[in-house]
Amino acid sequence: MKVTLVAGARPNFMKIAPIIHEIKKVQKQGKKISFRLVHTGQHYDEKLSHSFFKQLNIPEPDVNLEVGSGSHAEQTANIMTRFEKELIENRPDIVLVVGDVNSTMACSISAKKLNIDVAHVEGGIRSRDMEMPEEINRLVTDSIADYFFTTSELANKNLRKEGHGNHKLFLVGNTMIDTLKANMNRLKKPALFDENNLKPKKYLVVTLHRPSNVDDAENLKMLLNTLEETSKDYKIVFPVHPRTQKNLKKIKLSDKFIITDPLGYLEFVYLVKNSFAVITDSGGIQEETTVMKIPCVTLRKNTERPETVTEGTNILAGIDPYKFRPHFQKLFSGKWKKGGVPKFWDGKTSPRIVKQLLKIYSGK
Ligand code: UD1
Repeated sequence: MKVTLVAGARPNFMKIAPIIHEIKKVQKQGKKISFRLVHTGQHYDEKLSHSFFKQLNIPEPDVNLEVGSGSHAEQTANIMTRFEKELIENRPDIVLVVGDVNSTMACSISAKKLNIDVAHVEGGIRSRDMEMPEEINRLVTDSIADYFFTTSELANKNLRKEGHGNHKLFLVGNTMIDTLKANMNRLKKPALFDENNLKPKKYLVVTLHRPSNVDDAENLKMLLNTLEETSKDYKIVFPVHPRTQKNLKKIKLSDKFIITDPLGYLEFVYLVKNSFAVITDSGGIQEETTVMKIPCVTLRKNTERPETVTEGTNILAGIDPYKFRPHFQKLFSGKWKKGGVPKFWDGKTSPRIVKQLLKIYSGK
């Protein structure tokens, strides 16, 4: 069978890497499966893209569609047009998309319009927040996908409610956690750790890139000021996403903040693993902190990953900087919940996916 794997933006790379490694493994065992890796080029910076390929041993993509930045419609349209051409030239049995970025949705549409099967890894999760472009990407992708490799029973439930039969749903766990577990012994101390005299469990990590937190400079300033005032003598390491850079430049921060460019995967996970806590609006980091049992305060109104709150170390603090104070105070009081790990977030998800793909396509 022929699979086309799609990766477009930073959070896709750690989800696709273990699937590629597993396919290569079963190829060596004589299984008839081949893949083409398509990078849409949605993320193109060294720090948001290439460094992940190098660190996670992802092979060079067979093709890079080089779509780059643009409005949502421009980016989506460019990916669709270029991916359609790729599929006509190299028609697979199935296109496998991961996550919820614009590339995920755009490539699913192009594939289905050519009557090619689509499998969605991380299908079925829902924030119910239609202001998030990612929620629209999830809904559109899942409305047309043929198979779903899901991270939770709740995701399966959502998909059933939307009319998908059980035969399309495979609760397999979380490929992002496969990557986390596979790299735990390869983590790299970032240079900034010693340069700033950081001590384990004596600093925080902050990541912010959602429009609701970063697009308004006043809002971002208020948020960071509240954090600074409540965080006692903890230092605050803040790797800054390109989207956040513009408004951060307008804000004067104290020397408690250690501002840096986006970090490589191995350096970032090292930093999180040794931190006291993480403040974030990312999706994937909520999952990684739950597995590493690091307290996580998520600055969002909702999450498509509720098991990180009900089972894990995560809490939702909303997006109103005036209301963050009690959450931060609770964090620094040291009385945080311990948390458990959701079912199948065990580092063995990719073998489950590849096994299932081989089973589905063996009879076709
Ligand atoms: C995208 C994903 C989001 C994911 C995030 C992780 C969508 C809708 N959003 O958001 O789900 O959590 O990636 O990083 O797909 N830019 C660069 N270099 C790059 C890429 C982008 O400088 O390599 C700049 C762009 O010019 C743009 C900004 O960063 O101004 C935002 O990029 P964009 O891809 O639109 O969305 P993200 O916020 O990165």
